[in-house]
Amino acid sequence: MSANHTNKLERLQQLANSISLPKDMVLGAATASYQIEGAINEGGRGPTVWDHFTHIPGNIADGTNGDIACDHYHRLEEDVALMKELGLTAYRFSICWSRILPNGRGPINEDGLAFYERLTDLLLEAGITPYATLYHWDLPLPLQEEGNGWLRRNLVEDYVHYVNITTKRLGAKIKHWTTFNELFTFTWWGYGLKEDAPGLGGGAKAALTASHHALLAHGKAVPVIRKNVPDAQIGIVLDLNPVTPASNAPADIDAARRFEGCQNRWYLDAIFKGQYPADMLETYKDVLPAIEPGDLDEIAQPLDYLGINIYRRSVIEDGTEFAPVNFKRHLPEGQYTQMGWEVHPQCLYDILQYVNTNYSPKQLYITENGAAFPDTVEADGSIQDWDRSSYMLTHLEQAARAIEDGIPLKGYFCWTLMDNFEWAEGYLPRFGLIHVDFGTQKRTIKQSGKLYAMVAGQLQGKL
Ligand code: NOJ
Repeated sequence: MSANHTNKLERLQQLANSISLPKDMVLGAATASYQIEGAINEGGRGPTVWDHFTHIPGNIADGTNGDIACDHYHRLEEDVALMKELGLTAYRFSICWSRILPNGRGPINEDGLAFYERLTDLLLEAGITPYATLYHWDLPLPLQEEGNGWLRRNLVEDYVHYVNITTKRLGAKIKHWTTFNELFTFTWWGYGLKEDAPGLGGGAKAALTASHHALLAHGKAVPVIRKNVPDAQIGIVLDLNPVTPASNAPADIDAARRFEGCQNRWYLDAIFKGQYPADMLETYKDVLPAIEPGDLDEIAQPLDYLGINIYRRSVIEDGTEFAPVNFKRHLPEGQYTQMGWEVHPQCLYDILQYVNTNYSPKQLYITENGAAFPDTVEADGSIQDWDRSSYMLTHLEQAARAIEDGIPLKGYFCWTLMDNFEWAEGYLPRFGLIHVDFGTQKRTIKQSGKLYAMVAGQLQGKL
């Protein structure tokens, strides 16, 4: 390593050592089933919307799919050993509904349940707490084909049935349950637009209908999980952004309000206040889904925690996207990741403040935070991912700051454990703490992973 690089690394190590987190802080990494498992036709798994979507030419930037992904299905031991090497105390993963109920409903596939039980056992043996997400977008394909998936209100019953079977069986060992991952993303990008599965492109009406049914499914599932796992910690994961207007112009200020209503308040108000925000009901008046009496009460179940996925802030001006939300994203000068997302560490602190002030959840987790940057494997096999290392540490600093300020932040999960299938972007963006060579499936801990291990090691009093 050159003298310049040595200095740079020392500075990052100093930063890692200076981050002061409480001893009981949960430090983990997150993944999702379709993004890492592969083995789509093995172990009795049925097809999902993402299997279908990725095989339609033109849908995925590099023409790839998750058929093999990180081949995690066959590499549980190796991957859990790597988590241990990183010093993780928790691992957030998702359960693929189609492994449990290959047709979405009907016969239960014991092999699928056994797979997640084996993963859980390995985690617990390694001293790593499992955090399971019940829905990270891979809807069973037969349920998509029946009434367009989340557009059909009765999909709620199918979801609750799946949750019942899964939590009954795995609840003795898994105590942390998340009903859904990122309602805003999969409903707006998958049902409103055509960017993600199922690629419906039905505009705001479709996005809001899917959102309402998914919120209802969340609300109806919570008591079922409580019954099956009396000592469970139950929450939901939302993708939230601190939003600021791009200028003082009234049109931009109003667009920022609408965008913030669309991405943040629509979901938070429903879950924490049992109502949709009045200003957004007005904005959406021509595209509202059918909301039945009692729905909002059912959605607003008491939760043990809220999980926040945070990558960036949103600076918003007036525009035409997501009509009738009608906004445009403004891109301020600064550093951007491979996804085209601005690097702005304070966004993590700001979103925690915003949620804590306005909704007071009992506990908060950052359930995803991370950055995609291109990586180079050096001649000696190492990966010196400076930008990702700095992104991770500067965001962790903001997490520590939030805790110092009294925000009940219990844990931080880095997105992601290892490079994986980044949805419509394919394998191009690399977010991992661990590099994956997709030709050979060789895993290599990156410099960012080593720095993360330093922070974790400090917590465990190892260093
Ligand atoms: C959010 C999603 O939950 C995850 O699946 C995705 O890979 C990351 N953000 C990065 O885009």
